[in-house]
Amino acid sequence: MRHLPSAPSRASRRRILGALAAGLLCTAGAVVPAAAHTPASAPAPAADARAANGLALTPPMGFNNWNSTHCRAEFNEEMVEGIADIFVEKGLKDAGYEYVNLDDCWAVPQRTAEGKLEADPVRFPHGIKAVADYVHSKGLKLGIYTSAGTRTCDSVGLPGALGHEFSDARQFADWGVDYLKYDNCNNQGVDAKERYTTMRDALAATGRPIVYSICEWGQNKPWEWAAELGNLWRTTGDINDSWGSMLSIMKHNLPLSAAAGPGHWNDPDMLEVGNGGMTDTEYRTHFSMWSVMAAPLLIGSDLRTASRETFDILSNEEVIAVDQDPLGKQGEVLSSDGGRWVVAKEMEDGSRAVALFNETGSAQRISTTAAAVGLPHASGYTVRDLWDHTTRNTAGSLSATVPAHGTVLLRVAADRRWSAHPPAVELAQEGSPLVEAGRTASLTTEVTDLGRTPALTVSAALTGPSGWRVKAASATGTAALPTGRALRTRWQVTAPAGTAPGGYDLKLTARYRSPTGERVRSSVPFQAHVVVPPPAGGGYLSDLPQLSASNGYGPVEKDTSNGESAAGDGHPLTVGGQVYAKGLGVHAASSVEFYAGGACGSVTAQVGVDDEKGTKGSVAFEIWADGTKAASTGVLTNAMPPQPLSADVTGAQVVRLVVTDGGDGIDSDHADWGDLRMTC
Ligand code: GLA
Repeated sequence: MRHLPSAPSRASRRRILGALAAGLLCTAGAVVPAAAHTPASAPAPAADARAANGLALTPPMGFNNWNSTHCRAEFNEEMVEGIADIFVEKGLKDAGYEYVNLDDCWAVPQRTAEGKLEADPVRFPHGIKAVADYVHSKGLKLGIYTSAGTRTCDSVGLPGALGHEFSDARQFADWGVDYLKYDNCNNQGVDAKERYTTMRDALAATGRPIVYSICEWGQNKPWEWAAELGNLWRTTGDINDSWGSMLSIMKHNLPLSAAAGPGHWNDPDMLEVGNGGMTDTEYRTHFSMWSVMAAPLLIGSDLRTASRETFDILSNEEVIAVDQDPLGKQGEVLSSDGGRWVVAKEMEDGSRAVALFNETGSAQRISTTAAAVGLPHASGYTVRDLWDHTTRNTAGSLSATVPAHGTVLLRVAADRRWSAHPPAVELAQEGSPLVEAGRTASLTTEVTDLGRTPALTVSAALTGPSGWRVKAASATGTAALPTGRALRTRWQVTAPAGTAPGGYDLKLTARYRSPTGERVRSSVPFQAHVVVPPPAGGGYLSDLPQLSASNGYGPVEKDTSNGESAAGDGHPLTVGGQVYAKGLGVHAASSVEFYAGGACGSVTAQVGVDDEKGTKGSVAFEIWADGTKAASTGVLTNAMPPQPLSADVTGAQVVRLVVTDGGDGIDSDHADWGDLRMTC
């Protein structure tokens, strides 16, 4: 067995760069209000001929109870009015949140003898009109829900509006309802366009302005026909409070940008921010990407018990301004190579909102340029970081090393004031910070001036967790960094003997001055991994620690298939009737990394789609040795027997096992790495 050399060669460092954590960029410092981006002469939003009813000229913002309560008893008058109170008290109303919306289960199962709808007397003892009056008294608006079918979606089956469209719409208007979500359950096979047109006409006949939210789950491609009918239409099935669900919905919604505009929006479903199933980093990504997609922002968590972090995310006015931009463009995907996404949204003032989104399970450097995001040629640009709330100048490069599942959201403008801001400086770490406990590892950091102006008196500092030794092995400072130049520093890092394997935060800090003397301090955390060398001879990968893992649904399972949600919910790994006692069960899109330490020779497996999904599912398997694809299958379907896959991983520090969706979406993509071994 060979050990990880304490200072990997330059070439191997470069190869590792694509494989695992790199570093993090941050722009820090001076603050300029977002309003500075809006010239006084900004044109008024163009009236859009397709807007159905003149409403929702920017994406609707508000609250809906469904994601936090479903039909549970806590969905009631007290909750709804409590949310309205919080909108006012906590500044959310001022931030733009307006609609307080009731979802399914507000009604009783039977209509009255006159065919009227009635509120559930336990949940809403004073009736819907009283709730509407309360919400209106706060300067807010009320939304309601029913289905374009005979019954709603809840198993209790409350009355739907099919055949009652005009009287139900009249009743909603009489109650003072301002927004209708119109669902798709129990639709009796009646053509969707016909059903949603009838309700459009019924709402129009009331004479009351009512935002019309079409909810047929994207089944009939509403982005092709619903702009004439409704103000927003769901593009997918229901979201749930998980990374996999949010990501898959985002990927369905992103390509539909051409259909969105003032008064008619793609709706990738309501927000899960604050419901507890994702990390705050993931929730910031959710909120950033919904805003870049000009999606409705309907809060789906119970704000009465929400954390400060949840409020901070939901009330970030600079991010909300991206969503609510009057030009009404949905952001466009510029690139998505290897899970490194660049999505840019044209803004009314000519600036661009730019999301650098990292889908993968490890930090990634994501880069683009002012020209690529559509900005005109200029000598310099201002770059506003919408989560850090800092403003910098750039000569044109936009680049950040984004944490796993994170998003750096920038607003970039070619305005004449760029030189008032300090230069943007990118903080990055070169190579893979893999550390064996008790041994000294070497890593290199880079502080690069992306700005048009020089960064002066630049210094870099690196700190580790308590007990770690971090020593500079080359210069940590320089008098001046001109545009595009970097301060590279080599560091010797030692984790104390006995440190448990896993990820640990190191912090890189740069200090510099702008040409006008402004002092800037910019810090980013990045992860170092304490690793254990693979055992002599190697073994089953399901018995070795994983460096990182990401999976379409649920966790990567050891020695069973993937059951889509909780750990341990799978079945025996089975492909084409062949059962494997050892291996990994994953769900596309998946990536799992292992430390090989340059000491291993090959990885072998029998791979295929697990039998548990019947005839469904198609995937492709890949084995990567550092940054090189060492082996891959073509697209494999459920009908195919297990395929042998074998890769030469000689010299690799990191082995990465990838499963893609085979090009047709991740539905039913249960992928098995049967009999998966690495020889070392
Ligand atoms: C459907 C909708 C959800 C929610 C429920 C209520 O599933 O898509 O958003 O309204 O019905 O039963």
